[in-house]
Amino acid sequence: MNTPETRQKLDVFHVASHNTYQEAAFCRNLGLLDANEQNRLQHAVVAVAGLGGVGGGHLIALARSGVGGFRLADFDRFDPVNGNRQYGATVSAFGREKLRVMAENALEVNPHLSLTLFEDGVTEENVDAFLDGADLVLDGLDFFVFEVRRMVFKKALEKGIPVITAGPMGFSSALLVFTPDGMGFDEYFDIREEDTYIERILKFAMGLAPRPTHFGYVNMDFVDLRAKRGPSLGCACQLCASLAVTEALRLLLGRKGVKPVPYFLQFDPYVRKLVKGRLRMGNRHPVQRLKLWIAKNYMLDRNKVIGPVRPEQPDLAADGLAAVRDYVISAGVQAPSGDNCQPWRFSGKGERIVLSLDKGTDESFFNVRQAASIVACGAAMENMTLAAQACGLKPEVELRPEEGAGEIRLAALTLKQGEDVHEPVLHDAVWLRCTNRKFYSRKPVSDGVWEHIREAVERFPGTTLQWISAQDQLKKFAESVCLADRIRTEHRGLHEHLNAMIRFTQKDAEETRDGFPLGNLEAGRAGNLFLKATRSWSVMKALNTLGASRGVAAHSGKGILRSGGVGLISTQALDTESLFLAGRALERAWLTFTHYGIRFQPAAAPALFRLRWLLEGETSFSPAHGKLLGRSWSLAEECFPGFLASRPVLFFRVGFGPGIKYGTYRKPLTAFPGGDA
Ligand SMILES: Cc1cc2nc3c(=O)[nH]c(=O)nc-3n(C[C@H](O)[C@H](O)[C@H](O)COP(=O)(O)O)c2cc1C
Repeated sequence: MNTPETRQKLDVFHVASHNTYQEAAFCRNLGLLDANEQNRLQHAVVAVAGLGGVGGGHLIALARSGVGGFRLADFDRFDPVNGNRQYGATVSAFGREKLRVMAENALEVNPHLSLTLFEDGVTEENVDAFLDGADLVLDGLDFFVFEVRRMVFKKALEKGIPVITAGPMGFSSALLVFTPDGMGFDEYFDIREEDTYIERILKFAMGLAPRPTHFGYVNMDFVDLRAKRGPSLGCACQLCASLAVTEALRLLLGRKGVKPVPYFLQFDPYVRKLVKGRLRMGNRHPVQRLKLWIAKNYMLDRNKVIGPVRPEQPDLAADGLAAVRDYVISAGVQAPSGDNCQPWRFSGKGERIVLSLDKGTDESFFNVRQAASIVACGAAMENMTLAAQACGLKPEVELRPEEGAGEIRLAALTLKQGEDVHEPVLHDAVWLRCTNRKFYSRKPVSDGVWEHIREAVERFPGTTLQWISAQDQLKKFAESVCLADRIRTEHRGLHEHLNAMIRFTQKDAEETRDGFPLGNLEAGRAGNLFLKATRSWSVMKALNTLGASRGVAAHSGKGILRSGGVGLISTQALDTESLFLAGRALERAWLTFTHYGIRFQPAAAPALFRLRWLLEGETSFSPAHGKLLGRSWSLAEECFPGFLASRPVLFFRVGFGPGIKYGTYRKPLTAFPGGDA
C-alpha cells in the first residue's frame, strides 16, 4: 500500500507521517476516546480469525477506531455468493484471497497499520504464532467452523488473551465476551467429548443466543446444519462489528463494564428487542438443556427428506476423472422424469459422456413419440453441466440426435480440463430439487421472479416461458386442468401405467428405486386408501361411472388454486433437438425456483395431451376425451394466449409452502448402461 501514489496523496493532505495521519484520521474519535486512549489503540494488536462477513467488518471497524496492529487469518477466496454481506466481496475481488483483499482494504483506511498475515487460516500448527503478541482476539470464523473456533478460544484464554464473538442471527447480532479469568469455551457451551458435530453447532448457537429473538421470523427451510448452510444478512454482519468492536474498545482501553460469559446480549433491531442476561451454568442450565433437546429434535428432523442420499463431491486432482464422471452422471440421474421412470442411458470414457434414451423405459400414453423422455434427458443434461462445473470442469454439449432401434442417442458431454471454472450457484439445487405435490400458499410469485426465470428458460434457443399468477387466471386454468386430468383416470393405459409406478411400501420403493413412494404423492390418508383400492382397472372403471375421475381431477384443480402461479414452457418445433432444449430449460427453471425455496410441480396433462394431438392426430383420443380436451385447451388459450398455435411442452405450478417429507429414489448407475462413448 506504500506506493508512490499513496505517499504523494498523503503528502498533499499533510498526513505523510504516522503521527500526522493519526492526528487527522482519528480526530473525530476524540470526545469519545481521549488522546491517551487513541495512542493506546495505535499500539494495540488484535488477532482476527476469519475475514468474511463478520471478521471483515470487525477489521475495518477496528482500523477506523485507530487500532494499529493486526494478526489476520483466512484461507478462503471471495466468491459471488459472499456478495450480500462480506465487506471485501466486490466484483474485482471475486476469486482473490480474502486475506489479501481485506489487508488492502484495511491499509486503505490506515496505511500505517502493522499487519501479520496467516494465509492458511488458523490451524493447529500456526495458532500459537497467530496469537503471539495479540491483546485481544475477535472471532470472525464461519458459523459452522467448530473445532478451529474451539481451539482458538482455548489457546487464547490459556495465554491470557480475551476473545469476543458476535454472530449474525436473523437481523440481530448476539454477543459473548470470554475473559481469561471467566468461564471457558467448553464450560460455557457445555461441550462434551461424546457430542456429535451437529450437537456442538447447536450448543454454540443456543449458547450464543440463549433467548433467541430471531426464531419467529427465520425461514428454517433455508437452515441446513448438515450442509453447513444458513441465511445471513449484511446488516446483521455490520451489527456484529458494531457490538464486537464496542466491547473490543472497552477491553483494549481497560474501561469498566466488561461482562464476560455467562453474561450474554442479543440486539435485534427487527423486533426492536435487546435481550441480555446471565446464563448461570451456561448450556448446563436445566432450561437450556431442555431447549437444546427441543432444538435438536426439531432442527434435525426439519429438512430430512426420506429418499436418496447426495453423493460425495469428488475432487478431480485427488479422485481422478472417472470419479468425477460418475458424479456428473449421478447428477444427471437426479433429474426429473415422467413417473420417475428414468429413461436415460449413459456411456462414459475419458472426458466424454454420451447420453442416450432407452425407448422401452417409458411406455406411458403421455410419452408420445418419446417426447416426455427426451425432455427428461434434456433435464439430465442440464444437471450434468452444473455438476461438471462444480468439479471445476468446463462442460461442452454436442447435441446430435441419432435414432437407433431401441434407443435414441441424444448428446455428448465433454468435460474440458484446465479452465478457470467455478462452482455455479445452482449446483446445490440439483440435489435439492424435487416435485412438491402439496398445496402451497396463494401468495403470488412476483413478476420480477418470473422474469428472472424467463431469462433462465430463454437461454435455450427456441424455448419460451409464459406465466400467470393472478387468482382469477389461476381459477380458469384450474378448470382447464380439471378437464384434462379426468382422462388420467378414465384412460386405461394411463391408469395402469401410473399404478405400476406407485410403490405402495417403503421396501418396494427402496428395492425398485424408480416410480413414486406412496407418501411422495401427498394424497393424504383418504387418498392413499383410494389409490390402494383402485389399483385394478375394473374397480377404477366402475368408480368412474360414479364420478370418481371428476373427484381426482378436482384435487389437481385445487392444487392449481393453491399455488403462487403457473408457468408454461413451449418450444418452436417438435423435433428431438427442440424437445431436448426444452428439457434443459425446464430443469434450469426448476432449479432456479428450488434455489429460491419456491415449490414446483409439473401439470403434464394439458400440454402433453396437446403434443399427442399435434403429433398423432385427434383419433388418438376417444371422441368424449377429444371434447374434454377441446374445452380444456380453450381455457388454457384464454390464460396463455397463443397456446393453441404453439408447441407447448409442460405446464407447472409453483408457490411458497412447506417442503416434502418423502422423496423419490434413483437406480444405481449400473442400471443405465449405454453403448460406446
Ligand atoms: C415430462 C415430465 C412430466 C411430468 N408430469 C408430472 C405431472 O403431471 N404431475 C406430477 O405430479 N409430476 C410430474 N412430473 C414429475 C415426476 O413425476 C418426477 O420428476 C419424478 O417422479 C421424480 O421425482 P422428483 O421430481 O421429486 O425427483 C413430470 C416430470 C417430467 C419430466
